[in-house]
Parts: sequence; structure tokens; C-alpha cells
Amino acid sequence: MKKVLVAGSTGYLGKYVVKEFKEQGYWVRALARNPRKIEKEGPFMEPAIKDYVDEVFVGDVTKPETLEGLCDRIDIIFSSVGITRQKDKLTFRDVDYQGNKNILDIALQKSVEKFIFVSISNVHLFKHLEIVKCRENFIEELKNSGLKYTVIRPTGYFSDISEFLKMAISGRIYLLGDGKNKINPIHGADLARVCVDGAINNKNEILVGGPKTYTEEEIAKIAFSVIESPPKITRIPIWFVNIIIRMLRPFNKHKSNLMEFILATQQNDVIAPPSGKHSLKEYFEEMAEKLLRKRSSSYF
Ligand SMILES: NC(=O)c1ccc[n+]([C@@H]2O[C@H](COP(=O)([O-])OP(=O)(O)OC[C@H]3O[C@@H](n4cnc5c(N)ncnc54)[C@H](OP(=O)(O)O)[C@@H]3O)[C@@H](O)[C@H]2O)c1
Repeated sequence: MKKVLVAGSTGYLGKYVVKEFKEQGYWVRALARNPRKIEKEGPFMEPAIKDYVDEVFVGDVTKPETLEGLCDRIDIIFSSVGITRQKDKLTFRDVDYQGNKNILDIALQKSVEKFIFVSISNVHLFKHLEIVKCRENFIEELKNSGLKYTVIRPTGYFSDISEFLKMAISGRIYLLGDGKNKINPIHGADLARVCVDGAINNKNEILVGGPKTYTEEEIAKIAFSVIESPPKITRIPIWFVNIIIRMLRPFNKHKSNLMEFILATQQNDVIAPPSGKHSLKEYFEEMAEKLLRKRSSSYF
């Protein structure tokens, strides 16, 4: 039985990847900073993974002293480690680049066969952005390491797209630009299947998106239709967002980097070959029920 290490196991994609590896018959070690997250469903309905994990390894990728033994007896490494919404003081360079490099350095001392890493698709559009530079710098290290590898390049995840639903529930959706740009977002479970296939195929790069392409404006309308509210959409001009980003930069470089990334994704089409079958509308329906239940229980 092949043994796999899942780094990023407590995140949106990582949880689905743990489940998928286990269901396909792998032995699974999950790296977690906070092992309690393994026991709970995630904020975007990603599953609790306690029953799918053979061993929990508690460690922080930015602290190599906590990673001793991480790759012992491991055949395949999967990593989706990165900063998306965490609020500690670490930078993309600390986590997305150096954190993943720390895992790779340990893997190279052991008999690991393959490293599967998740980055983003349409990278030529975002190459100048710090988050993308750091992940691509790590990919260079991976390519030069001599280890077999697969880089998965997905579009946006349903988890991120659920920001539209949260805004709809709050009463108004704000779009950066005209909302005509297109994306085919993907559900974590569909993407996990592609990631796990990476363990057995010989492809170095896999571009992947969800089954259906929408404009951002269409996604906004789906979000309002799910909560049965008339659409209230405000389009914020790009020049205005650029001013905010420039003003923010000296005070909070990390936040301005994130805003730059969001702006870039909303100015360009982000489309990749379709895969999977989860429907965004059905995901929004389930998620809306959860968010509205939470909101009404917080009134009491
Ligand atoms: N979200 C998208 O729409 C999207 C689209 C395309 C590509 N991607 C790429 O996919 C990756 C994964 O996305 P996701 O939505 O699954 O992210 P996520 O939910 O934020 O998960 C990130 C994972 O990395 C872990 N992590 C962060 N810092 C760590 C550290 N210092 N030590 C150990 N683990 C650490 C997190 O652990 P904790 O739970 O302890 O924080 C979490 O398990 C992203 O980094 C991004 O580059 C994302």
C-alpha cells in the first residue's frame, strides 16, 4: 500500500484530498498545525477527515525543527500549503515558497517518489503578483530537484466563489470592474480527484477547472436567486481599486498583495479544461442554508 503525506490537510482542498486518497486505498499521513481542525467540518462544508487519516503529524512548515520525521516511509507528497485567508504575520515568501521548500528538502533526504503541488492556472496573467511569484519560485525548485512531480493548476475554488453568496446575504454584491470576465470554478471534491490521479500519471502539469463557465455577473445573479432576493450589484471601477491598493501598500503589504491578486482574477478570464460534475448553484443552495442558519442562531 502506497503511503502519502498530505500537507495542507486542514484547508479546503486538503480535506477533500485526504478523503480521496483514503478512499482510493492509500495510507494517509496528514500534516496539521492544529490537529483539532481534522475533527471538524470546514467553513465551506469540506468534510471532517478524522476517519480518513492514518496518522496526524503536528508541525508548522515554517519551523523546520517541527518537521523531523515528516517524510519517513512516505512514497508520495501532496501539498496545498499556502496562505489564503489565515491572519498570522507570515508572508507568501515564508509559507508558499519557503514552507513548501522545507518539505521538499526533507523529501529529498528520504525515499519519496513523487511530489504533487497545487498552484494556479493562467499563470502568465498573474506572474508579477507576489503570491504567484512565490508559488512559481517553489515550482522551479521542484523541477530542479530531480524528484518526479505533478503541478496542478486549477481555476478558482467553490470556497472562494462563496464570497459572492456571503455578499448577497449581506444585501449587495460588489464586483471589481464590469463583471463580464469569465471563470469555470471547481468544487474541492472534483479537484481532489484530479490531484490524486496525479499520483499515478506521468503528467508534469495539469490545468483544470469546473464543468461550467460563468461571467462574474452571472455568478452574482445565481447567488441572489438562491436566496430569492432581487440582484443588487455595484460595480467598482478598476481605477478606484488601484488607488486603494496603492494607498494600502505602505501600511499593509500583505493585504495589498491579496487585493492585487483578487483584482487581477476579476479583470481576466480564468478558464481551464473542465472536469468534475458538482454544480455551483447546488453548492450555493447548501451553503446558503448553512450561512442563514448560522445567522439566525446568532440573533438569539
Ligand atoms: N482558493 C482558491 O480559489 C485557489 C485557486 C487556485 C489555486 N489555489 C491554491 O491552492 C492552495 C490551497 O487552497 P485552499 O483553499 O485549500 O487553502 P486553505 O484552505 O487556506 O488551506 C491552506 C492549508 O495550508 C496550511 N498551512 C498554511 N500555513 C501553514 C504552516 N505554516 N504550516 C503548516 N500548514 C500551513 C493551512 O493550515 P491551517 O489550517 O493551520 O491554516 C491549510 O491546511 C492555495 O495556497 C492556492 O495557492 C487556491
